[in-house]
Amino acid sequence: MTERFSQMSVSYARQGRIGLITIDNPPVNATGHAVRQGLMDAARDFAADTGADAAVILCAGRTWVAGADISEFGKPSQAPILPDVIAAIESLDKPVVAALHGTALGGGLELALGCHARIAAPGTRMGLPEVTLGLLPGAGGTQRLPRLIGTAAALDIITSARQVPAAQALDLGLIDALSQGDLTADAIALADTLAGQPPRRTRDLPAPAPDPDAAQALKATLARKLPGQIAQATAVDVVTDGLAQPFNQGMAIERAGFMALMDSPQRAALIHAFFSERAVAHLPQIKGVTPRPLDRIGVIGGGTMGAGIAVSCLLAGLDVTLIERDDQATARAQATVGDLLAGAVSRGKLAAARRDAILSGAFRTDTDYAALGQADLIVEAVFESMEVKEQVFAAIDRVAKPDAVLATNTSYLDVDRIADATRRPRDVIGLHFFSPAHVMRLLEVVVADRTAPEVVATGFALAKRLGKIAVRAGVCDGFIGNRILSHYRAAVDAMVLDGASPQQVDRALTDFGFAMGPYAVSDLAGLDIGAMTRQRKAVDRHPRDRVPVFADRLYEQGDLGRKTGRGYYVYADDKPQPNPDLPAILDAVRSDLGITPRDFDDAEIVARTMAAMVNEAARTVADGTALRPLDVDVVMLNGYGFPRWRGGPMHWADAHGLDRILSDIRRFAEDDDHFWQPAPLLAELVADGRGFADLNQGTSA
Ligand code: CAA
Ligand code: NAI
Repeated sequence: MTERFSQMSVSYARQGRIGLITIDNPPVNATGHAVRQGLMDAARDFAADTGADAAVILCAGRTWVAGADISEFGKPSQAPILPDVIAAIESLDKPVVAALHGTALGGGLELALGCHARIAAPGTRMGLPEVTLGLLPGAGGTQRLPRLIGTAAALDIITSARQVPAAQALDLGLIDALSQGDLTADAIALADTLAGQPPRRTRDLPAPAPDPDAAQALKATLARKLPGQIAQATAVDVVTDGLAQPFNQGMAIERAGFMALMDSPQRAALIHAFFSERAVAHLPQIKGVTPRPLDRIGVIGGGTMGAGIAVSCLLAGLDVTLIERDDQATARAQATVGDLLAGAVSRGKLAAARRDAILSGAFRTDTDYAALGQADLIVEAVFESMEVKEQVFAAIDRVAKPDAVLATNTSYLDVDRIADATRRPRDVIGLHFFSPAHVMRLLEVVVADRTAPEVVATGFALAKRLGKIAVRAGVCDGFIGNRILSHYRAAVDAMVLDGASPQQVDRALTDFGFAMGPYAVSDLAGLDIGAMTRQRKAVDRHPRDRVPVFADRLYEQGDLGRKTGRGYYVYADDKPQPNPDLPAILDAVRSDLGITPRDFDDAEIVARTMAAMVNEAARTVADGTALRPLDVDVVMLNGYGFPRWRGGPMHWADAHGLDRILSDIRRFAEDDDHFWQPAPLLAELVADGRGFADLNQGTSA
C-alpha cells in the first residue's frame, strides 16, 4: 500500500488499483478548512496517481462527515469553499465512491452526492438538516439531490431535515448499495467494478421539470406549520428556481440563497441554540467526575409524571420499579405505562416484541418501598406537598442502598429541605422532568447545597441515557424555568385584568412564535394546577401582587381546561372557541377591583411579556440559579415553547436591544413600580454597553 499524507485530517493511500481518501477530523469529521484543503489535495493526488483507477472516500471514527464546521459560520469563509471541493471531486475523470457510516449530514451528504457512487453501512442515516440551523444546503444539495431522487423526495428531505435510514435511502436511489459486511472492503469492491468506466456525475443527470404549483402548496403548508421561519421557504424557491436553469446557474442561485440566510438573525439564533444545547453539558463542577452506575431506577408515584418518567427510562433500556400507594393505584400506573408504551409502538418508536419484554421483565410495580433496595437512582414524583415529600424521603432513606441517588421531581419546592428528611443529603438532587416526561427533552438538574458532584454527574448521565438535554439549576422557587414562567405569567395576567382578553394574549404570543399561548397552556395543564399553586403561595403574597381572580372564578365553576372540555376555551369542536362565560367573568372581576379596562395592542402584549421574562431571567443568572444566560435559553427553548428561531429569551434580548427592554421596564413601572423593578444585572449590562452573550464567554457556546 502506498501512502501519502496531504493534510493531517485527510490522507491519501492506495490499495491495489483503488485510491483511499480517508477523512479523520474528530469528533464528527466536519468539513472545516483543513478538511476542505485536504480533500482538494487528496483529489489532486488521486488524479495524478496513474496506478489508481478509482477511489473510495471514507471516514475514520464514529461517523461519515456530519456537515460543514458550524463553528466557522458567521466568520469570513476561507478558500477552498465546500462547493468547489465537491465540484473538483465530481469533475475527476476516474470514479469516486463514497463509503458512508454513522451520519451523513448537510455538507457531508452533499460531498457524497458529488461522488460518483454511494455505499452505506446498514445503520447510516442521511439528511440535510441545514434548515434547522436557519440555512439551506449550500454545497449543491438543492441541485444534485433532485437530479438523483426527484424533486418531491428531495424537497421533503430538505424542508423536513429528517434523517433518512440507509434502507430507505437505497429505495429512494440516494445510495447505490448497502454494505453487508465490512464497509471499506465492500466500497473497494464497488470501486473496482466501476474502475475504467466513465464516472456517473450527478450534476449531468437530467434535471426534473420544476412543478411551481407543488412548490407553492408546500410553501403554504410550511408557513402554516412553521410560522415565521424563513429557511424552509427559501430552500423551496432555490430548488425550484435552480432546476429551471442549467446546473451551474442553479448552483449560483443556491449560493445566493445560502449567503442571504447566512446573514439572517434566524441563522444566528438557531446556531446559538445548537451550541448552547451542547454547552449546557460542560459543567465545571463535574469535569472529570465519574457518574455513579445507572441500571436500576426506582420511581415513586405513578401519576402523570411518574408514569412518564418510568416510560422514558424503559425506552432507554433501564430497569424500572414503580411504587404507588395501594394496589388500585399500582394497577392504574401499570395501565398508564402500558398505554404510553403502546403509543410508542404505534408511532414506530418501539417494536411490539420489545414492549412485551419490557412489561414482563424490566418494569415492575409495588406498594412496598423495600422493593427499591437495589435501585441505583430513585425519582420521587408524588403530590407537590412538602409534608408528603418529607415522609417519602424519610422512607426512601430507610431502604435505599448506600450511594443510591435520591431525586425529587418537584416543580417548585425547596430541595435542601427535602434533603434534610434523609441522613444523606449529599445523595439528594432535583431532577425536574417536563410533561409529558417521555416526550419532552428538557431535564433541569437541581443542585442543592450539599449535593455531591458525582450525584450531579449522575443526573447529567441519566439525561444523556434518556436522550434528554440536562440544564443545571440552583434551588429557588421554581428553579430556572418555572420561576421565569411565574413572573411573565404574572405580567400577562395583569394585562388581562387591565383589559386584554386571554385569546388576544395567546394570539399575540403565538404570532411572536411561541408554540402555544399561556392561556391555552393553562387549559392543557389544568386550571386546578394554577389554583393550587396560588393557594400555596398565598401566604407569601405581597399586598400589591395582582391576583388573576378570573382564573379562580373559572376554577370555582369547574372549568378546569381540556380535562373538563372548558377552560379559557371550549373544546367541543376541532377548533377551540373562547369560553362564552369569560367576558362576563372579566367584567365582574374588573368592576370589583375598580379597573377601567383599556386596549392593548399586540406589540404591547409582546413587549410586556418579553420584558418580564428577560428581567426575571437576568435575576436567575445574577443569583446563580442559572449558570449562564445560555442555560436560560436552553430551558425556555426546550421546556416552554419559546420559538427556536429566536434563539431563546436572552439571545433575543441581546438582538432586540437591552437598552430598549430596560426603558420599557422603566415606562411600565410608572403604573406599577412593585412588579416592574429593573433587575440590577440588566441595568448594569446596559450601563456597560454589554450583552448577555458576554456572560456566556469562556463557554463553548
Ligand atoms: N460542526 C462543528 N461541530 C460539530 C458539528 C458540526 N457540524 N456537529 C457536531 N459538532 C460537535 C458538537 O458541538 C459536539 O461538540 P462538544 O463535544 O464540544 O460539545 C461534538 O461535535 C459531538 O456532537 P454531539 O454531542 O451532537 O454528538 P452526537 O453523537 O449526539 O450527534 C451528530 C452527532 C448527529 C452529528 C450531531 O452532532 C449533529 O446533528 N450535528 C450537526 C449536523 C449538522 O447540522 N450538519 C449540517 C451542518 S450545515 C452544512 O453542512 C451547511 C452546508 O451545506 C455547507
Ligand atoms: P399526580 O397527582 O398525577 O401523581 C402523583 C402520584 O403520586 C399519584 O398517583 C399518587 O397516588 C402518588 N403518591 C402520592 N403519595 C405517594 C406515596 N407516599 N407513595 C407512593 N405514591 C404516592 O401528580 P403529577 O402531576 O405526576 O406530579 C408529581 C410531581 O411532579 C409533583 O411534585 C409535581 O409538582 C411534579 N411535576 C409535575 C409536572 C406536571 O406537569 N404535572 C411537571 C413537572 C413536575
